[in-house]
Amino acid sequence: MQKLIGKICLVTGAARGIGEAIARAFHREGGHLIITDIDESAGQELAEELGGQFFRLDVSEEADWDDLARNVPQLDILVNNAGITGFEHGPAAHDPEHATLESWRRVHAVNSDGTFLGCRYAIRAMRARGAGSIINISSRSGMVGIPGAAAYAASKAAVRNHSKTVALYCAQQGLAIRCNSIHPAAILTAMWEPMLGDEPGRQARMDALVADTPLRRFGTPQEVAALAVLLASDEASYMTGAELTLDGGILAGSAAAPGS
Ligand SMILES: NC(=O)c1ccc[n+]([C@@H]2O[C@H](COP(=O)([O-])OP(=O)(O)OC[C@H]3O[C@@H](n4cnc5c(N)ncnc54)[C@H](O)[C@@H]3O)[C@@H](O)[C@H]2O)c1
Repeated sequence: MQKLIGKICLVTGAARGIGEAIARAFHREGGHLIITDIDESAGQELAEELGGQFFRLDVSEEADWDDLARNVPQLDILVNNAGITGFEHGPAAHDPEHATLESWRRVHAVNSDGTFLGCRYAIRAMRARGAGSIINISSRSGMVGIPGAAAYAASKAAVRNHSKTVALYCAQQGLAIRCNSIHPAAILTAMWEPMLGDEPGRQARMDALVADTPLRRFGTPQEVAALAVLLASDEASYMTGAELTLDGGILAGSAAAPGS
């Protein structure tokens, strides 16, 4: 039986990667999809394929969220998925000694501010029905220090913590609006491309990246989507404020040591 029949589901950063996989999985479960992204052509194409709607939404822009709220005033499920590492335009210094304030702020604007704005919109849009599910895509990097990606790690830690605040706030308000965070690691998407590069050396870099992963492989966007379906569905009705790792076992043991 489909798990999301009749639910209005909004996914940010849904034009590709994990967001796209989540949108496709929600569609298979009977949800009505609102696809959002800054990539208008890919987002529009996916929305047409899934019979949903597309809205251009830069998650770091409050005005974009205000426009969205006017167009989509009611919602059942929100996935705050859009995120950036800071490496989108190639190698750059993101360690605590050399990172620029500008790059730190940009990563936080998308990952942290974007999640705050998304949660605020969702609470308001779910309040009328008094129920809903907010799923925030954090990262294993939000649970450990990452020397080479300081802003990314700090912003994802903010996502993790804010998810718990939202969960408690909604419970205090007597609302059945649940909020949980997913913490993936090493999911093979285009996000990795700037770090993997081309051959020669690409395969060696891929092997090195998963050498410390107990399952010794990258995860797939579909594996993240399966967990998002569970959290979105009524089967997870007693889950709120939870953090769920999806990392091939990395955080289960010593591979989470500093330096990784
Ligand atoms: N891939 C991984 O290994 C991994 C691991 C942990 C966490 N995550 C998180 O999962 C989420 C999705 O990652 P992915 O691997 O699919 O990335 P991706 O780069 O493949 O896709 C990200 C999508 O977000 C969109 N986007 C970027 N900036 C945006 C903005 N300001 N507003 C709206 N949309 C924007 C992009 O256009 C793109 O469609 C991110 O939050 C990421 O941090 C990914």
